[in-house]
Amino acid sequence: MEVFDALRTRLTVRRFKPDPVPDDVVHKLLQVGLWSPSSRNLQPWHFVVITKRDTLQTLGRIATGGPFLADAPMAIAFGADKRIADRPELDIGRALQQVEVFAWSEGMGTCFVGFRNLGQIAAAKEIIGMPEEIELITIMPFGYRHDDVKGTRRKRKPLSEVAHSERFGQPYAAP
Ligand SMILES: Cc1cc2nc3c(=O)[nH]c(=O)nc-3n(C[C@H](O)[C@H](O)[C@H](O)COP(=O)(O)O)c2cc1C
Repeated sequence: MEVFDALRTRLTVRRFKPDPVPDDVVHKLLQVGLWSPSSRNLQPWHFVVITKRDTLQTLGRIATGGPFLADAPMAIAFGADKRIADRPELDIGRALQQVEVFAWSEGMGTCFVGFRNLGQIAAAKEIIGMPEEIELITIMPFGYRHDDVKGTRRKRKPLSEVAHSERFGQPYAAP
């Protein structure tokens, strides 16, 4: 799949086929995360691969924004080492976007699961053994997607509302 087509068609996926994600594909997901650019090349990311069903179910109970974690074949927790970067969230955002787009191009899907409060974050970190000094950014489920993925892709602001030409406020005109 061309990068443009992957970006054009990608949707958030919250329901997965039960098929496991093969080990070599998991490895590729991690590689594309590792290949992401980062500020000063500090690479402040950590990726925790989670495949145990009981762990996924527990995380699905903790993360009220992502109960579907419980049914995913696998998940990756994205952590940020705040000791080695000032704004590691930006770097982690780059990495997880690369992983998400690659996963889509391979017939998979995922969803950014945001935690609703500090208690959820602490509980999830405890379950996966993530140390205090690593910030848990998200835990993203991965799996092969069904054909009928329903998303909100078309619900985007008009480009004319957010794109400016030369100076803010001067509308960008599409060719
Ligand atoms: C920072 C961030 C946090 C998100 N948190 C959640 C979440 O907690 N639960 C959820 O179901 N979706 C979550 N999403 C997914 C968004 O709802 C989704 O990307 C958006 O509705 C656009 O849909 P699309 O990705 O299919 O284009 C999150 C996305 C981002 C980028």
